[in-house]
Amino acid sequence: MIEETVKNIEAKAIEEIESVSNLEALEAFRVKYLGRKAQINDLMKNLKQASPEERPKIGAQANVLRNQLEEIIAKKKTILEEQDFALRVKADAQDVTLPANKIVRGKKHPITQVLEEMIAIFKELGYIPVEGPDVETDYYNFEALNIPKHHPSREMQATFYVKEGELLLRTHTSPVQIRVLKSQKPPLAIIAPGRVYRCDADVTHSPVFHQVEGLIVDKKGKVSFTDLKGTLTEFLHRFFGKNKRVRFRPSFFPFTEPSAEVDVECIICDGAGCRLCKDSGWIEILGAGMIDPNVLEAVGLDPELYSGFAFGIGVERLAMLKFGIDDIRLFFTNDLRFLKQF
Ligand code: PHE
Repeated sequence: MIEETVKNIEAKAIEEIESVSNLEALEAFRVKYLGRKAQINDLMKNLKQASPEERPKIGAQANVLRNQLEEIIAKKKTILEEQDFALRVKADAQDVTLPANKIVRGKKHPITQVLEEMIAIFKELGYIPVEGPDVETDYYNFEALNIPKHHPSREMQATFYVKEGELLLRTHTSPVQIRVLKSQKPPLAIIAPGRVYRCDADVTHSPVFHQVEGLIVDKKGKVSFTDLKGTLTEFLHRFFGKNKRVRFRPSFFPFTEPSAEVDVECIICDGAGCRLCKDSGWIEILGAGMIDPNVLEAVGLDPELYSGFAFGIGVERLAMLKFGIDDIRLFFTNDLRFLKQF
């Protein structure tokens, strides 16, 4: 009787385990065959009614059955877990044959490239780079540079004021001349690269652009206008190569006397005249001159004892000429199709 029951339970279990296809179903199976309400427990209860000779036999058979069931469950569990793992691996798998995403490499902005090249050339010529603030006082940007209040020459540089008549966005890098001369003793030779601001916009003018200021001061007579011309010519030769035509032309700046401007032949029209050069065939790239005695006096240097020259170069203009770009605004719109070409 007992044997039959054991066999029945075993047969049923073996048959049923076949259709157990996941771990939840297996747990249900375990509860059914080994849990508190399982048939095997009824078997044990029957022990009490059995005769003393039969009891060990029944007990042993029940144990064998229990072990067998446990074994069946353990085996199935291993199989199901392996299946589960295989499924998850498959679901997570990466297709290693897919082409990788392209990594786009960044580049320096063309203006940064030109600025760095300019600084490198001037360093070779013995100039030391310094910096000044973008927000300047009226004194440094104008007054100390021999541009008094209400003087017409202020109109050369349409100004963005932070505080009317007091604080402004520097219209040129020349205020760094004053800052340097007030804090360092000649002889000195510096360049001051940086951003400048003017209320101006067309193909050759942007409201924000860059200049490299140059300043050299020494005992009177040590540096002459010829040195100025030689220095700028040498710089331009190193920057453009010797084939590019340049011209020096007399000009006026309140802070230099005499003053000059330098033009480079227009790369767009080769001198024939176009909208970039405003039909002149030339593009103005810098202003320069011998430091005006009034400027030296403003910083406490005696013009009888000291002299020097200064220049201010337009960085975007140089970049346009170097790369053949006919609209300055391209540098600031940051169109990647443009920037990628450098
Ligand atoms: N600061 C002048 C400008 O921006 C350029 C300049 C610099 C001229 C130094 C002479 C000397 O137009």
